[in-house]
Amino acid sequence: EALTKDGYAHYMLKEIHEQPIAVANTIADRLFNDAIADDFIGADAREILSQTKQIHIVACGTSYHAGMVARYWLEAITQIPTQVEIASEYRYRKPVIPANTLFLTISQSGETADSLAALRFAKKAGYLATFAVCNVANSTLDRESDECILTHAGPEIGVASTKALTTQLAVMALLTLKLAELRDVDIKVRKNLAKQLRTLPGIINQSLLLNNQIKVFAEQIVQRDHALFLGRGVHYPIALEGALKLKEISYIHAEGYPAGELKHGPLALVDDKMPVIAVCPNDELLEKLESNIEEVRARGGELYVFVDHKSQHGLKDRVPYLIEMEASGSFTSPIVFNVPLQLLSYHVAVLRGTDVDQPRNLAKSVTVE
Ligand code: G6P
Repeated sequence: EALTKDGYAHYMLKEIHEQPIAVANTIADRLFNDAIADDFIGADAREILSQTKQIHIVACGTSYHAGMVARYWLEAITQIPTQVEIASEYRYRKPVIPANTLFLTISQSGETADSLAALRFAKKAGYLATFAVCNVANSTLDRESDECILTHAGPEIGVASTKALTTQLAVMALLTLKLAELRDVDIKVRKNLAKQLRTLPGIINQSLLLNNQIKVFAEQIVQRDHALFLGRGVHYPIALEGALKLKEISYIHAEGYPAGELKHGPLALVDDKMPVIAVCPNDELLEKLESNIEEVRARGGELYVFVDHKSQHGLKDRVPYLIEMEASGSFTSPIVFNVPLQLLSYHVAVLRGTDVDQPRNLAKSVTVE
């Protein structure tokens, strides 16, 4: 067993460290200079994508968060209206499906019962086509979808998903770029996005080097019973994912919130025993997020903030726990900011002595309803 963990204490830690290579493998042979290979999907995909007028994404757990991030990208870059929904909700309602809507499931295992049920419903519901993003070739999802784009994360053993999410995001970024190409989005924009994707493995590597600073955060948070994760825009799903990861493996109650919604409830929970972890990228929402952070600070909340080292933020003297990160640009930024949150949960869980790779009550693949 020690061998397969490659000397890491847990599979999860190994898988976190495999992310640079997993992303490199996922984009290899698919991203050429600024173009996305046509065989990136299947033979008919170009035609289907050209006709696509809406996208419905359906998934569970961490894969759902990948869908949420992708929605920001797809709408902002390609202007294709996109909805994202939890599979167990989607399958039991009566969704409206406008003409030329593409159905897309995202799943690491390709065996999640609710996602499969949603796909089976979708196949009879009049969608343009059913696509899947999946990590397991020949899984049920791969076999039953019209087209399946494989993430090349390699086997993921830890129950808490890490490299699978990162490669799902890489695939969704490629799909966004492909759609941008088919819709003639400005070449300058596409070149910039492609460049960010190419530099992503190196930037993830740099985030992994923050490990010791993140451990310092973990040593504080381990003593708490609750935690709040904040983000805005495309980083809001990253806050949700940070909270999910922490609760899954450390059993600390955690919630992810869009920071602008703080004053509509969670601010009531903030006191000097409430760690508030904020993801602060260098984007147009930075100033707004800073004022949300100030709201927490004024109420004595314990702040742990991740910022882009390039940003002109005024947080340095105001926040006790701050990590400055190398970021890759606004497109791939959510992928990069997710990495330190994975390490944070990992270290908190290790300090609490939980079973990191197999947390209680959870399964890697939920094949029953
Ligand atoms: C379980 C796993 C999660 C995963 C979710 C969806 O809850 O513990 O890590 O995100 O299922 O699984 P899928 O294989 O469909 O991505």
